[in-house]
Amino acid sequence: MKDNYKVGIIGATGMVGQRFITLLHDHPWYDITVLAASARSAGKKYKDAVGAKWAMDEDIPEKVADMVVMNASEDIEKIASMVDFVFCAVDMKKDEIKALEEAYAKAECPVISNNSANRHTPDVPMIIPEINDDHAEIINAQRKRLGTKRGFIAVKSNCSLQSYVPAIHPLMKYGVTKVLATTYQAISGAGKTFETWPEMLDNIIPFIGGKKKKSEIEPLKIWGKIEGDKIVDADSPSITTQCIRVPVSNGHTAAVFVSFENKPSIDEIKKAWADFSGAPQKLGLPHAPKQFIHYFEEDDRPQAKLDRMLEGGMAVSVGRLRPDTQYDYKFVCLSHNTLRGAAGGAVLMAELLTAKGYLD
Ligand SMILES: NC(=O)c1ccc[n+]([C@@H]2O[C@H](COP(=O)([O-])OP(=O)(O)OC[C@H]3O[C@@H](n4cnc5c(N)ncnc54)[C@H](OP(=O)(O)O)[C@@H]3O)[C@@H](O)[C@H]2O)c1
Repeated sequence: MKDNYKVGIIGATGMVGQRFITLLHDHPWYDITVLAASARSAGKKYKDAVGAKWAMDEDIPEKVADMVVMNASEDIEKIASMVDFVFCAVDMKKDEIKALEEAYAKAECPVISNNSANRHTPDVPMIIPEINDDHAEIINAQRKRLGTKRGFIAVKSNCSLQSYVPAIHPLMKYGVTKVLATTYQAISGAGKTFETWPEMLDNIIPFIGGKKKKSEIEPLKIWGKIEGDKIVDADSPSITTQCIRVPVSNGHTAAVFVSFENKPSIDEIKKAWADFSGAPQKLGLPHAPKQFIHYFEEDDRPQAKLDRMLEGGMAVSVGRLRPDTQYDYKFVCLSHNTLRGAAGGAVLMAELLTAKGYLD
């Protein structure tokens, strides 16, 4: 591991890109060296390119405000020569994103991606660092396919599953057979605020494009295994979901129902959550929450407004665990969708891959 890594943010003017800036401007290992976005922003100072779209609570960090935004699609070789790796969160067509990410990887610039385009590429790891850090090993096979020495793509899963998959994972030892989850997702997940999406005030929308598929299928890759040169999805548990947009600025909540082969007691479930830690905690990574899963005994928790910022928005809050009449148990979980669910989760994954030596 080096003392310092130069990083680029591709899609720096977007909602996730802005989060990357707030998380990285004072990072102990990483220096923001490049900001890039579309041709609309290229050539402008960052503060002018992002303008009124800046949606973070804090001001634009001084360090980046006057940086000139580069063109993410046209300056690939130049950007690759200026950084050790890039974070990528762009709003483009899927095939365009796939081509863009592969172009950076082939220019020997590793890509830590928030986009969905490469999530089902079999040799691209989709990592929740506490759960499947071992999937990083597939990067060697991916480099062979791409013909690269350093370049590769690693992706983050969708934000919708970021609360319930961590809560279910430590219970897998009891043989989880069935999961039903209804997610109540914040508007920042669509890159929006109440100013840019006033229709969401006093409203609920029972549809989020593509989310049902992502929230049911992506967990099976995360729980999958490396076989040869690919990751093979797990064949259980069976998962069904409904994803609903709610008038909340930040924080995705999920109501979860679970059944087991060997039903644990309520105390065993709470202990499994309390004891759960993974590679980020063992390695002491800068963005690792000390306690990944926090259980609340209060009947009215977790609440988006009160609990989404727990441990800097990197922890998962759980509550309301009780028996169910159709499944074994039900509970409610919450995670911050643009922190743990997007930029924060990607930064933690980069820290993990840095500590494992994949970004040298
Ligand atoms: N928001 C979330 O919670 C969340 C969670 C997980 C994953 N994601 C994923 O992250 C990605 C970005 O989401 P977002 O919410 O940040 O979107 P967003 O706010 O709409 O921002 C999109 C970004 O993409 C850039 N862009 C658009 N077209 C481009 C092009 N042709 N070339 C280069 N850059 C281009 C934009 O630059 P300009 O400003 O120059 O147009 C902007 O920086 C999406 O793939 C989304 O699915 C989002």
